Amino acid sequence: MLHLKFLTLVKLGGSVITQKKLSPPTVNKMALNRIAKELRIHKGPLIVVLGGGAHGHQAAHAYGFGDASTPLEKLLAGIPSIRHNMTLLSLEVEQILNANGIPSVAIPPFASVRMHDGAISNFPTDIIKGVLEAHCAVIIHGDVCLDDVQGASILSGDTISVYLAKALDIQRVFVGTDVDGILEEDPRINPNAALVSVIDSSNKDSILAGIGASSATDVTGGMALKTQELLELANQTAQVAIFNLTVSGRLAALLEGKSTTCTRMKL
Ligand code: IPE
Repeated sequence: MLHLKFLTLVKLGGSVITQKKLSPPTVNKMALNRIAKELRIHKGPLIVVLGGGAHGHQAAHAYGFGDASTPLEKLLAGIPSIRHNMTLLSLEVEQILNANGIPSVAIPPFASVRMHDGAISNFPTDIIKGVLEAHCAVIIHGDVCLDDVQGASILSGDTISVYLAKALDIQRVFVGTDVDGILEEDPRINPNAALVSVIDSSNKDSILAGIGASSATDVTGGMALKTQELLELANQTAQVAIFNLTVSGRLAALLEGKSTTCTRMKL
């Protein structure tokens, strides 16, 4: 039986686990080895969600994903290279986690998820539950998926995280990025912008309005969408936090239930 109470989901931001500027896309093995050692602190069932980073975003951008005017044929032509790159990334992560004593199996969304106009229409979770029950961590990743309106669309790691957290009633969701969390102001305008340590119903609207304008855009919507999606979760999930995965020790602290620099969400 799966002890859902201890089920934890950690999203590994693509900019941390891949070398964003290198082409062909390259995995950041040093960061991943350190992250694997931090993940090992968690003793219960674990889902690790990978962002696309260089592996996902370079190819998605080249084939016009994220641009509403891209013709369907061009999107479809992008499927093989996005799939291939994301598979390479997931296999490298799988190898590093297993080598660090975390038995784990990568599961590709493309093989089972269907999209409808950019949103998930079908996402079976039986295999995921089964793998967890087999005492393996699940590695799942942002992907390109078949879409019955757009032909193909990008399923981001953030969307997967929120979907699985709801579907499996996950109690702890930790989203690793390359920034400390949500800042009160755009750091490009104010480099000393303060970190928001808690988002709750009192400051939610003003914070969302602030990051809407400032977040860097990528094919999957950047920080504003990430925050919005995670806030939806904060109602039902005991712990939701965005933290800086490039700083060693913060993931470990979250997993141990200790306080650390991050933005927590509580509605
Ligand atoms: C993107 O997922 C997936 C693809 C482009 C295939 P995310 O949007 O979660 O990736 P990162 O973490 O921002 O790189």
